[in-house]
Amino acid sequence: MQFDLDAVRARFPALAITDAGQPRIYFDNPAGTQVPDSVVEKMAECLIESNANVHGEFRTSQKVDLLIDDAHQAMADLLNAASPDEIVFGQNMTTITLHMSRSIGRLLQQGDEIILSRMDHDANVGPWLMMAEDLGLTVKWLPFNTETFEFELDKLDALLSEKTRLICIGAASNLTGTINDVKSICAKARSAGVMTYIDAVQSVPHVSTDVQEIGCDFMVCSAYKFFGPHQGILWGRREVMERLTPYKVRPAPEEIPGCFETGTQSHEGMAGTLAAVNYFSWIGETMSGHYHEKYNHFSGRRQYVHAAMDCLLDYEKGLARQLITGLQQLPGVRVQGIVSADSLDRRVPTVSFTVDGQNPDDIAASLAARNIFVWSGHVYAVEAARSLGIYDAGGGVRIGPVHYNTSAEIDVTLNALTDILPRANVA
Ligand SMILES: Cc1ncc(COP(=O)(O)O)c(C=O)c1O
Repeated sequence: MQFDLDAVRARFPALAITDAGQPRIYFDNPAGTQVPDSVVEKMAECLIESNANVHGEFRTSQKVDLLIDDAHQAMADLLNAASPDEIVFGQNMTTITLHMSRSIGRLLQQGDEIILSRMDHDANVGPWLMMAEDLGLTVKWLPFNTETFEFELDKLDALLSEKTRLICIGAASNLTGTINDVKSICAKARSAGVMTYIDAVQSVPHVSTDVQEIGCDFMVCSAYKFFGPHQGILWGRREVMERLTPYKVRPAPEEIPGCFETGTQSHEGMAGTLAAVNYFSWIGETMSGHYHEKYNHFSGRRQYVHAAMDCLLDYEKGLARQLITGLQQLPGVRVQGIVSADSLDRRVPTVSFTVDGQNPDDIAASLAARNIFVWSGHVYAVEAARSLGIYDAGGGVRIGPVHYNTSAEIDVTLNALTDILPRANVA
């Protein structure tokens, strides 16, 4: 009943691909993960056996209706939603957020205030800036400490006022990897009567997520970051969603979640998302026994997926520790995130770094030449990159391990960097 890396890796066909005999090392996971076999199979099954529009009187349509219900239930399990009706599917997190901002904006009026963060991906910033501009709202900014890479919550207290209506915060940063204390932020917001919109795109692939415990009003994530297909998902608190006026066409459903699921959905995307949740459940059931007890208040798949996330995160912490320690030994490297070995609970394994005098794209290209896939740039975390002072120099290099990565892959990458960086210095 222990984490079985070989069994996990065998489930991902992409991990077996080689190029001229050279394996691929996928460290671009924060930008999108590989998928297990069952995700591919479920999507193919959907397209072959239930490729129809919804609510028809015939077999394929009825089958896809059932699949859609299953997918909502699976996401309710993953996020511990009170009901599958609170799960809204959409194209991706950005599109869902742009869409929801129109409906949420209908509750706001000129002079109201919203709080945005300097750490977030622009998908949880840009839509709200546009909403604020349209409605004449005041935007206040929650900074983070650029030494600790964390928010200081007394700064949030100072921003909250009688006019605050909404706080938009990320649960984990796609640049620094910091896990934010969204539970405390939501508690502060709730006691001030303020709505909360949590971007959990980077936390859901790594951390057990419980929307009821966190106490937020909205949470968004993306299945392609958690081993599923390109698919966005929103959870919204029923009472809050029911207060909104959905932007929808007239014949579309009036009730949640259908009123927010505009047009014809990606049924195959929902199928793949369902399979991704079931993949976590498989890990929970077959290799996460030690972690079940903490989730005894859940049962069945819900208990398994939450236990699985804790099991996977424990494994990932080892990779993060190895990666950070190795990076810190390289010349001129500065890790742009939490590094202390006893603070790994406060970060996901996504590690960004800069190198004095080096262009991040060049480093990523040198790694790519060795079939090591990493991201470089500001990674759409525009405010965070500016706050860290790395925006103008091209951002950073981001290495993002997940549970299917190996310690050997980290070694290969660190060795490659050892080779690349001094050469780049000479050039
Ligand atoms: C933290 C975070 N939020 C939002 C997004 C946008 O997600 P999507 O591609 O589903 O719109 C990303 C994508 O990288 C992200 O990392």
